[in-house]
Amino acid sequence: MIIGVPRERKADERRVAITPDGVRAVTSRGHKVLIETNAGVLSGFTDAEFKSSGAEIAQSLDEVWEKSELLVKVKEPAPEEVKFFRKGQAVFSFLHLAVAPELTKTMVEKGVTGLDYDLVMLEDGRLPILEPMSIIAGKLAIQCGAFALQAHSGGRGILLGGVVGVRPGKVVVVGAGAAGRNAARVAIGTGAEVTVVDVNLSRLTPFTLPPLKARTIFSTPAAIEREIADADLVVGAVLIPGALAPKLISRPMLGSMQKGSVIVDICIDQGGFAESSRPTTISEPTYADSGVVHYCVTNMPALVPRTSTIALTNATLSYIQTIADLGIDGALRKNLPMLRSLTSYQGHLTNSVIGEAVGLPALDEAGRDELVGR
Ligand SMILES: NC(=O)c1ccc[n+]([C@@H]2O[C@H](COP(=O)([O-])OP(=O)(O)OC[C@H]3O[C@@H](n4cnc5c(N)ncnc54)[C@H](O)[C@@H]3O)[C@@H](O)[C@H]2O)c1
Repeated sequence: MIIGVPRERKADERRVAITPDGVRAVTSRGHKVLIETNAGVLSGFTDAEFKSSGAEIAQSLDEVWEKSELLVKVKEPAPEEVKFFRKGQAVFSFLHLAVAPELTKTMVEKGVTGLDYDLVMLEDGRLPILEPMSIIAGKLAIQCGAFALQAHSGGRGILLGGVVGVRPGKVVVVGAGAAGRNAARVAIGTGAEVTVVDVNLSRLTPFTLPPLKARTIFSTPAAIEREIADADLVVGAVLIPGALAPKLISRPMLGSMQKGSVIVDICIDQGGFAESSRPTTISEPTYADSGVVHYCVTNMPALVPRTSTIALTNATLSYIQTIADLGIDGALRKNLPMLRSLTSYQGHLTNSVIGEAVGLPALDEAGRDELVGR
């Protein structure tokens, strides 16, 4: 199979979808990897390294899209990539379709096969490709939030860990999955006073005993309102796979927060958990609304592209190999985690949660399974 890897086009995106080691693993099985020139440079991987791992270097974006059966990317296709979509071609990437009705419609209409990293799900419900990116974003959330809390950034001028004789900062983490758990761990490490909120009590249990002791709170609107009122830093890390993030901070709740406090909305890629959240970029990461500093970067792992590119390849490689070895149709029939990631196929939207979010008709699971012949 010919696997194409374009240079990412999203603002400030510095990751690339595969490492030279990943290329070697794929090409050694007899497949071809066509990578756009300089695609890896911002992650510290040169064309020469890719070439010596067996990749072919394409001189343009057109060449990658025109020659490849499978496109492997980091972020959703950019507007300049959409024009290359063709029937039967597959795109394996973070797609975030719940917040992209137009892209969803185009992928369906053009007959592109969409495979969303976010939705690759194992039997136990774990999301093996999203997870490492969420761990990275969670760890970064505290350092980005701490920076935003500094007075020169517009924050309250609070040091999260405090100092002898002075109360530490209060951090509230909403959602204790991969991202939230790691944000909470880092926050505890700084010496901040930490509260972790989730609807799933088993996600809160690790925080009930040292060394990760934090206050654990069951998630209800009233509890969140109480907790954020005197918080310095609030981290949003909730997820309902495929769906828009639930809005857990309403405008009136925002109004009750302290001036100069900070919201880091990690789940902004799914629309954000605060009504006041809107996507920002790494170059311009924050804005103030009602006196609260908002950090809403949709691609936080791009802040540490070397780590993130290696971690992403570690997570995607076995799936890329499966698709390359079995073909797209074979992989969908034989590999259930892969099938769960299917968003569009042969002109149909194949995920009803996304269908609901974007207002388009979609097949249910039974319809999807029949369509792929499983
Ligand atoms: N901005 C970025 O750069 C970036 C990077 C990676 C991940 N993310 C996003 O971070 C979010 C979290 O991802 P994850 O991998 O940690 O997900 P996860 O599934 O591991 O965890 C989500 C948690 O949210 C909890 N939850 C759901 N509804 C809730 C509610 N009403 N109140 C409280 N908790 C609730 C779930 O019980 C679960 O524990 C996702 O939207 C993901 O796309 C963003």
